[in-house]
Amino acid sequence: MPDDVVRIFDTTLRDGEQAPGIALTRPEKVEIAEQLARLSVDIIEAGFPVSSEGEFEAVREIATSVRGPVIAALARVVPGDIDRAAEALKGAERWRIHTFISTSDIHMKDMLRMSQPQVLDAIRDGVKQAVGYTEDVEFSAQDATRTELGFLLECFRVAVEAGATTINVPDTVGYAMPHEFGELVRMVREAVPGHVVVSTHCHNDLGLAVANSLAGIVNGARQVEVAVNGIGERAGNCSLEEIAMIVRTRSQALGVRHGLNAKEIMRTSRLVSMTTGYSVQPNKAVVGSSAFAHESGIHQHGVLANRATYEIMDPLEIGLEGNRIVLGKHSGRHAFADALEKLGIRLEPEHLNRAFARFKDLADRKIQLTDQDLQAIVSEEIGQAEKDVFVLESLVVSGGTSQEPRATVRLRRGAEPIEESAIGDGLIDAAMGAIQRAAGVEATLVTFNVSSVTSGSDALGDVVVQLEVEGHRVTGRGVATDVVEASARAYLAAINRALQVQPGSTSTTEAWPR
Ligand code: KIV
Ligand code: ZN
Repeated sequence: MPDDVVRIFDTTLRDGEQAPGIALTRPEKVEIAEQLARLSVDIIEAGFPVSSEGEFEAVREIATSVRGPVIAALARVVPGDIDRAAEALKGAERWRIHTFISTSDIHMKDMLRMSQPQVLDAIRDGVKQAVGYTEDVEFSAQDATRTELGFLLECFRVAVEAGATTINVPDTVGYAMPHEFGELVRMVREAVPGHVVVSTHCHNDLGLAVANSLAGIVNGARQVEVAVNGIGERAGNCSLEEIAMIVRTRSQALGVRHGLNAKEIMRTSRLVSMTTGYSVQPNKAVVGSSAFAHESGIHQHGVLANRATYEIMDPLEIGLEGNRIVLGKHSGRHAFADALEKLGIRLEPEHLNRAFARFKDLADRKIQLTDQDLQAIVSEEIGQAEKDVFVLESLVVSGGTSQEPRATVRLRRGAEPIEESAIGDGLIDAAMGAIQRAAGVEATLVTFNVSSVTSGSDALGDVVVQLEVEGHRVTGRGVATDVVEASARAYLAAINRALQVQPGSTSTTEAWPR
């Protein structure tokens, strides 16, 4: 690859999915991976196969079905991890094993309980084993920014000697400042041979992930690890859309470029926000809903006269077009599939049938549906558990200023109808209580997020809930013309998901196996 090209390594499905409360289903992961391929990221880190059976299967499906980017999987420098990653990846066109171990004193002593020589041996053995499977091997020194410099460079030397072709410098705890991180990357760049790509992986604990990644690029990094909307462990990772638009907008000043199809940025951001339940703050750079809104009179005047007076990017560059009305209640299945196709969404026949049924149901109550409405319907559908245990047949609520809020739901479990009622603090609370009774599942509501898909009083309500059921956190999403119904749908979707969580499917991976 030419020396001025920065590779975009997307870790939304691995580090991003490690964000608290995010638990994507396999179809959601595949849909995100397909969208990342349309965005033309260079590498998709699809997951950490050894961490659970579900994770392994998701990586395997992405590897066999998504074409374009290199598909990567994470593995500790542990033999079982590396075998498992290779097994999951082997159906891919091009694939990479990303192997890592902690190198800072605090991690080695208190977490791994390993000495420096033991860590060096593990790196040598792990990288060699990975190279036995593929020529494309990345090595990461976890907590690199708090690692003693001499030892860090020795770890990288050993990894390169064993065959690593990408060396990653993670600021795992988001502690570094841009001038320090830039300097570190410069020293690593000078220490490793020219054919080896130096990479950054910056966390956002102090809000510096993008600035640090940029400092890395300026000092020779030619891969940045990023996540859509900046999601990830704790405060998240370097945000894909921000670094992408910095490099694109200031390409001349930086002397670098990337190969992303920027027009897909907005769609990717929305898909990730919808499937993860992590909403995007309105003033977030590039993809926030206010990022291209001009409020003051002077600014509005300026932009009307010449957009460039106050806009350094054209919203069309990131695919932010007006919200087009695409379909109404007379639209048929063909028009529906066609509209999805134009949005870049291709569904399996079973999902298409379900999404079309939901569309018809909503179109009967709402005059026209926009492309954003369609995206919301689809993300609700692909988020459903593969085989829902309960189906919502009807919901009746009553209440008001002088009447106790009451809800009656009718669910179906197979052929069996179940009806229950509940009284609550409000209509939503009553509806959730009735569902809980009907499903016979003990659930605690952890988060409840309601937004509207578009603006206007006829907008679809979009609800994302997170529940705790028997120690597992699960999310559910529901869209409807009515917020109470959307909430009930979201709640039931989360319960259905909880009922599908296989015992032992959560990650129990430790820092080092004993
Ligand atoms: O933050 C980190 O150090 C990581 C590594 C596994 C690359 O996510
Ligand atoms: Zn990380």
